[in-house]
Amino acid sequence: MSPFAANFDHIPKISLKYCCAVVLLNARTRIAVQQGENLVPTDRSDEFVVFDSVQKSYDGEILVVKDLNLSMPKGEFLTMLGPSGSGKTTCLMMLAGFETATHGDIRLDGKPINNIPPHKRGIGMVFQNYALFPHMTIGENLGFPLEVRGMGKSEREAKITRALGMVQMEDFVNRRPAQLSGGQQQRVALARALVFEPELVLMDEPLGALDKQLREHMQFEITRLAHDLGITTVYVTHDQTEALTMSDRVAVFNDGRIQQLAPPEDLYERPENSFVAQFIGENNKLDGVVETINGEHCTVRLDDGTLVDAQPVNVSQAGERTRVSIRPERVESNPERLHPDAHLIDAEVLEFIYMGDTFRTRLRVAGNQDFVMKYRNAQDQPRYQKGDKIRIGWRPEDCRALDA
Ligand SMILES: Nc1ncnc2c1ncn2[C@@H]1O[C@H](COP(=O)(O)OP(=O)(O)OP(=O)(O)O)[C@@H](O)[C@H]1O
Ligand SMILES: [Mg+2]
Repeated sequence: MSPFAANFDHIPKISLKYCCAVVLLNARTRIAVQQGENLVPTDRSDEFVVFDSVQKSYDGEILVVKDLNLSMPKGEFLTMLGPSGSGKTTCLMMLAGFETATHGDIRLDGKPINNIPPHKRGIGMVFQNYALFPHMTIGENLGFPLEVRGMGKSEREAKITRALGMVQMEDFVNRRPAQLSGGQQQRVALARALVFEPELVLMDEPLGALDKQLREHMQFEITRLAHDLGITTVYVTHDQTEALTMSDRVAVFNDGRIQQLAPPEDLYERPENSFVAQFIGENNKLDGVVETINGEHCTVRLDDGTLVDAQPVNVSQAGERTRVSIRPERVESNPERLHPDAHLIDAEVLEFIYMGDTFRTRLRVAGNQDFVMKYRNAQDQPRYQKGDKIRIGWRPEDCRALDA
């Protein structure tokens, strides 16, 4: 039976809509450019994907995306990371063309695409629910986007073999999706998004259904493929480890806005506000008021009267309320490793947890009972007991005074 004679009624409409968009011709956009259809190509390679002051409201009242500005160079792997409902999928859907922006422009390779339908955008997509055609074999699923483009049988077969080879699924070409595991289906979905060699691939939580081991393996596979093939990728996840390990840059979303857009290391080491500091990795937070501020250094009087050192990030003058943020691995319990002028703070050990490669000590610090100190398991490192009274401190540059 030809796949095109099939009845698609049993496939959820939304999947069908996505699948069809995935498979249609990206060359059409190029042809449109060649024919000069009011599209102006650009050679600004750092602006391959651009969101320019984009806003989105579904109901005409509430903005779920608020003034989004984002510019991606060709070949970049960018991840949108954020809590549920923060607007990540909405941004992806606008870029793919399944939703329209309420305000602003979206440009792909210099061309405004607000009014170009999804199937003309030349974008490959991978979704959490795979969206494979259940009645087709794996080979037919991959062949579909190529056949729609009028590609001949032998060229099609070569491309299918190559794409399945990329995800190590060549041996499954004659099976149907229901005869594959979740991870295998996910690989096929990835191969189908790549088979027509799109320049831009969008992935919305593609690994959500996989177990930890397979997920980590696929993270590696996806980044390797994206880099090897030079594909520009927009990846959506709410898993911060995934975002940090896979991406060239991460856009942290909250409440319809990008809170920070930076390479993983910057995001982890230099969060620009309290939301990002709390969302990425583990952070101790202590509230207080800026007491002195001098260039790169400030002191903060915590609410229980303790004085600590910090780097002013989101504060500009004495008297401002602030939340200081310090990573557990940057807390120091050996004063000899700190500057002689560093302020030391009293802490009480509430819990000492042996974690194999690291020791994790939960402390009561300035009234906060969830203050965590973490350090490497080494011969010369202390092993504390519950109830021990110790002194801790940190380098001012490791402690960031952020918005309260
Ligand atoms: N079709 C729609 N109609 C109305 N509101 C919508 C629609 N789709 C999404 N929303 C709303 O827009 C906001 C952003 O949703 P979106 O799906 O973009 O979030 P998300 O960041 O992808 O979340 P998640 O991590 O849960 O997938 C939410 O408040 C959501 O309820
Ligand atoms: Mg989503």
